[in-house]
Amino acid sequence: MRRRRIAFGRRGVEPLEDLSPFEDEDEEAEPLVFEPAAPVETRLSPDTKAARGRLFERLMESIDLAALSLMGETQARAEIAQILREIIDEGAIALSTVESARVIKEIIDQVLGYGPLQPLLDRDDIADIMVNGAGTVFIEVAGKVQKTDIVFDSDEQLLNICQRIVNAVGRRVDEGSPICDARLPDGSRVNVIAPPLSIDGPALTIRKFRRDKLTLDQLVGFGSITAEGAEILKVIGRVRCNVLVSGGTGSGKTTLLNCLTAYIDHDERIVTCEDSAELQLQQPHVVRLETRPANLEGEGLVTMRDLVKNCLRMRPERIIVGEVRGPEAFDLLQAMNTGHDGSMGTLHANSPREALSRLESMIAMGGFQLATKTVREMMVSSIDVIVQAARLRDGRRVITQITEVVGMEGDVITTQDLFTYEITGEDREGNIRGRHRSTGVGRPAFWERARYYGEHDRLAEAIERAAVDQPERKGGYDNDFMGAET
Ligand SMILES: Nc1ncnc2c1ncn2[C@@H]1O[C@H](COP(=O)(O)OP(=O)(O)O)[C@@H](O)[C@H]1O
Ligand SMILES: [Mg+2]
Repeated sequence: MRRRRIAFGRRGVEPLEDLSPFEDEDEEAEPLVFEPAAPVETRLSPDTKAARGRLFERLMESIDLAALSLMGETQARAEIAQILREIIDEGAIALSTVESARVIKEIIDQVLGYGPLQPLLDRDDIADIMVNGAGTVFIEVAGKVQKTDIVFDSDEQLLNICQRIVNAVGRRVDEGSPICDARLPDGSRVNVIAPPLSIDGPALTIRKFRRDKLTLDQLVGFGSITAEGAEILKVIGRVRCNVLVSGGTGSGKTTLLNCLTAYIDHDERIVTCEDSAELQLQQPHVVRLETRPANLEGEGLVTMRDLVKNCLRMRPERIIVGEVRGPEAFDLLQAMNTGHDGSMGTLHANSPREALSRLESMIAMGGFQLATKTVREMMVSSIDVIVQAARLRDGRRVITQITEVVGMEGDVITTQDLFTYEITGEDREGNIRGRHRSTGVGRPAFWERARYYGEHDRLAEAIERAAVDQPERKGGYDNDFMGAET
């Protein structure tokens, strides 16, 4: 075990007493912000809908599906559009020019894509799509959840689309196996839960994949962190601190983890383990691993723990675990402790203290026969920094704490905040006001590490600048951030 300096009574050092296993295993969902948004799309009139139905039938009569399946997508789209236009031009189906353009697109989406979902999937500004049965579709845009006007014709149509999505990854969803995770070809994560488990029709949830992952500098622009805070994070990423990113669901943990990996040197060998590959590392020497659920016969399960254990035999320099949820917590700590400095992972917790107690419970539940104190010592000697992400009530995502795990005081782990976000109030539009503050710790515990990598001057400068009081801000430093960018 690496020896750690134990800091007593230092400024900002906080004893961590409350290490009891969390009482509530449930993810504490943050309240969703509902906006009475303008309808995202207007519904078709009954006449147009009927015309669309007839058009679809005519298409099915005249199209050669076998030939279609051999075409590329662009060609197939053009082919279908051509046939549909011919049918409309024959005059049997009355549609205005505007209507016909829309109906043609909808039919193409129905045949080749994901039906009514396609327009939402095509948009880059949507973070999540939530379908609660055929009649209700919510989306999250710029941190706000809003109801769309999109509807499916029926629960059957919706279930068919779910089926198409999960079939693509060799799975099936029906009454017999009503829960299913899958992924869209673009990397978006999908969860389907079908009746009878979901009472009001199939529930489909899509976390859309962002190709253009956010960067730390963008997060600074959004007011999620100050430039100085970002600088400290860059140093943390580079100098191989062991890091946990903690936060609630959708608080930006994965985004933050991805940002941190951007500062890893290009000559390091990195192995990533994820439930569904989301990270986008820019380094040349990366091995990406993904867990696998059991197949229909209940075989072939590969857990996160299997991956992390295997990782250790792959001569990694750093191990990155997308989300630590279970007994793999133990293996990750082991790895951090045995020369794989700079390993990182995210976990679900509402504060750095809670992150530590969750980790402790994960290890306890993994059936390892270890004394509490041993586990805590192990955590102290492995984890350097916990970065806390949060989604505020107004939908904005901020980094609320950069906290160091510094040592033990008796049986109690001590932590030290380097940087915090302080909420100062709320304005009339419901935007949270707050500011980031340095806590006045001049020399973080990873100072020597920073020095070893020649980053100590940069770190000292960032800390010094952060100590100057930041002005109070609302809705981010760049007030337009709620626009198309997010
Ligand atoms: N600081 C931020 N500002 C604005 N949007 C963000 C920020 N961090 C993350 N997001 C967006 O929020 C969504 C959820 O982020 P993600 O990192 O996947 O959350 P988590 O891993 O905590 O569930 C993504 O669409 C992401 O692009
Ligand atoms: Mg995540």
